[in-house]
Amino acid sequence: MKDRSSFSNSLGFVMAAAGSAVGLGNIWRFPYLAAKDGGGVFILVYVILAVTFGFTLLVTQVAIGRKTKQSQWTAYGQLSKNWKWLGMVESMVPFVILPYYCVIGGWVLKYAITFITGETEAAAQDGYFNGFITSQWSPIVFDVIFLGATVFVIYKGVESGIERLSKFLMPILVIMVIGISIYTLTIQGVDPNGVKRTGLDGLAVYLIPDFSGMTFKELITVIMDAMGQLFFSISVAMGIMVAYGSYVDDDADLMKSVNQIEIFDTVVALLAGVMIIPAVVVFMGKEGMSSGGPGLMFITLPKVFSSMGVSGRILGSAFFIMVIFAALTSSMSVLEAIVSGLMDRLGWSRKRAALTEGAIALVMGILVCLGYNVLYFDFPMPHGKTGQILDILDYISNNFLMPVVAIGVCIMVGWFVGPDTIIKEVTKNGEKFGRKHLYIAMIRFIAPVMLIFLFLESVGII
Ligand code: PHE
Repeated sequence: MKDRSSFSNSLGFVMAAAGSAVGLGNIWRFPYLAAKDGGGVFILVYVILAVTFGFTLLVTQVAIGRKTKQSQWTAYGQLSKNWKWLGMVESMVPFVILPYYCVIGGWVLKYAITFITGETEAAAQDGYFNGFITSQWSPIVFDVIFLGATVFVIYKGVESGIERLSKFLMPILVIMVIGISIYTLTIQGVDPNGVKRTGLDGLAVYLIPDFSGMTFKELITVIMDAMGQLFFSISVAMGIMVAYGSYVDDDADLMKSVNQIEIFDTVVALLAGVMIIPAVVVFMGKEGMSSGGPGLMFITLPKVFSSMGVSGRILGSAFFIMVIFAALTSSMSVLEAIVSGLMDRLGWSRKRAALTEGAIALVMGILVCLGYNVLYFDFPMPHGKTGQILDILDYISNNFLMPVVAIGVCIMVGWFVGPDTIIKEVTKNGEKFGRKHLYIAMIRFIAPVMLIFLFLESVGII
């Protein structure tokens, strides 16, 4: 066997995996869902799911990687011949995600520069975001820079690229998130209805459970939202955790690492809410939180920052720089999953794989950018929505391929390969497998059933 790259120790693995997990999802989706789904109710459901459902999927994928010393494309076939196809399908996920993730990374870069150069007012204008994404060249240029940086890191390799950068960026990210959170709690202002508000009012909106008028049906929506969010947030079913698992030493304590990754990801998501919700509520009222996704990050927040005057410029710059770190450590993990697959499956060198996939993602990324101008078209999507090329790629990967892969993994491990294979791998140096019975019940019964519901909901059947 060719000498396989590896992380130098558990800390390297945990930082890299947490870097993958902490991304745009933590920052622009978690706070929005929490505000929409009754604050503390959502948070409670999310945390319960993280230690049951999330832990099951994460430990399974990392253990498969370490056991087979293969990335997703070839790992499943090694466990069982009949499941080779699952590796193929899982390999399509990062391939679909990379191009558009880098386009969004480019948008973040653009906003960081806008705030750093002091064009705070311009960024708060109505139509600024639309004007930017519909312009023909600018988004492509920023995409190229972001993708180029991603390719560069992966080209350098696992230890001197991914691990080194993650160990450097992740601690800075945490410090920035804590710093910004503390600051936003201290702000005061007047919202559009003329009500005087403080950061602490916003914190109440975020944390205090709001069961008022919550029907059973709404509770189900909260659970589904939390599950979808968790699933995306811990980067499972997209090849990444199998590939990263394959670089972990045989004597590392997987259980401990998986717990640390989950804690890291959840804490950053929780803090993202503390960072964003009070700021939005103070300046825009509770309704300000009604937009999620790109709207929150690229339209609402710039308005909030600009209404803060000089401190808004500093805060905005810090915020978008922090988001670049979060997005870069995620995008490089997506590229690594692809590169690692090409190396294992086709025997390519790292450099060849990184450059080839970089070129493909560039072409696809340009198409994504053009989807907002010359290739603009309103494609119909489930639940009566429409979308552009970016939304379609996002839909194919997140709503369709990822749930299918996750269901496949649960059935394969639960019923064919056997949960014991995973448990043995995790405990092979005598480590304890906490929550063992829970794990078996989850992987065989509960997780696949929950995932089937998630899948049916996301394709618009229920
Ligand atoms: N886990 C990331 C997040 O929460 C999402 C992600 C990572 C998406 C890697 C794609 C690839 O934002």
